[in-house]
Amino acid sequence: TRVAIVFGGRSPEHGISCVSAGSVLGALDPDEFEVVPVGITRAGQWVLTSGDPAQLAIDARRLPEITAESGTDIVLRADPTGNGLMVLDPTEGPRALADVDVVFPVLHGAYGEDGTIQGMLEMAGIPYVGANVFASAAAMDKEFTKKLCAAEGIPVGPYAVLRNGMTLSEADKERLGLPVFVKPSRAGSSFGITKVDDWAALDAAVATARQIDSKVLIEAAVVGREIECGVLESEASGAPEASVLAEVRVVGDYDFYDFEAKYIDSESACEYDIPAGLPERVTRQVQEYAVRAFTALDCAGLARADFFVTPELDVYLNEINTMPGFTPTSMFPRMWAASGLEYPKLVNRLIRTALH
Ligand code: DAL
Ligand code: MG
Repeated sequence: TRVAIVFGGRSPEHGISCVSAGSVLGALDPDEFEVVPVGITRAGQWVLTSGDPAQLAIDARRLPEITAESGTDIVLRADPTGNGLMVLDPTEGPRALADVDVVFPVLHGAYGEDGTIQGMLEMAGIPYVGANVFASAAAMDKEFTKKLCAAEGIPVGPYAVLRNGMTLSEADKERLGLPVFVKPSRAGSSFGITKVDDWAALDAAVATARQIDSKVLIEAAVVGREIECGVLESEASGAPEASVLAEVRVVGDYDFYDFEAKYIDSESACEYDIPAGLPERVTRQVQEYAVRAFTALDCAGLARADFFVTPELDVYLNEINTMPGFTPTSMFPRMWAASGLEYPKLVNRLIRTALH
């Protein structure tokens, strides 16, 4: 099976995508898969890389980056025979990406997890791992994730949406209360998120979020534990299945599960319980909501659903990620490993599911 692993990309999560891809590349059995490692630079240039996992690891607190020098420049063009996309490699001559059996877009955030590359692959008729165009776009956008999941009866916390140019009304301030989390509606890995404890700091937080997305969400802080659940499409039936749950606790100097805590300092800043220590009834509730959210958004392949569980054991959906992190510290593969599916088997299953 020829599989293109696509990583890096134009979103702020470029570096995380590279680390995720390094882990995926390291887990693919060379006897089973012929890998085409395609990096995308921050500027959007596609390069054929060596795919050496060693170059895709966090090194001395620095995230890896794909640049034009990371590999051979390639150009994408529609295949004139009408099937697939051509990858024009100036040194080797044209090679059709359609020759690839399947694409694994190990991309997080905009231009990767939001339906754009999925649309390109649909146009080209190439199977790919993960959610389709609609589900990717819906899950990328925290406003529509909440709306679609709430419509299916999944509890979501109070929030307000600030479209471009809008400011938060006094009535919304009253309704949400402090603190609030200010988030770009379409982003990931906690980029652009600020916790606001004083309304005087709101404008600056909105400006920070708007650097990533003109649409900003203001969410009431749900006091509760951070609980995550992995969802995988069953190979046999196509039905979604839930993993065991994980709890993430941020300790030390970190105020919340932000980017540094997640990736740079995860060893000292985070404690993980897998499985999470929750009553059986609550565990089942979270798993049921995770599967229901997967279905509500029409997801495919995989997703990670993130929740808050309050001290009263009420469950609120926070968000869904259609291409969750695959780094060595990422929750999605760890939850599946704890559920009996080791990392290489997980990656294998995702690729096989995409080929069905
Ligand atoms: N957006 C990051 C990669 C995650 O959800 O794991
Ligand atoms: Mg996310």
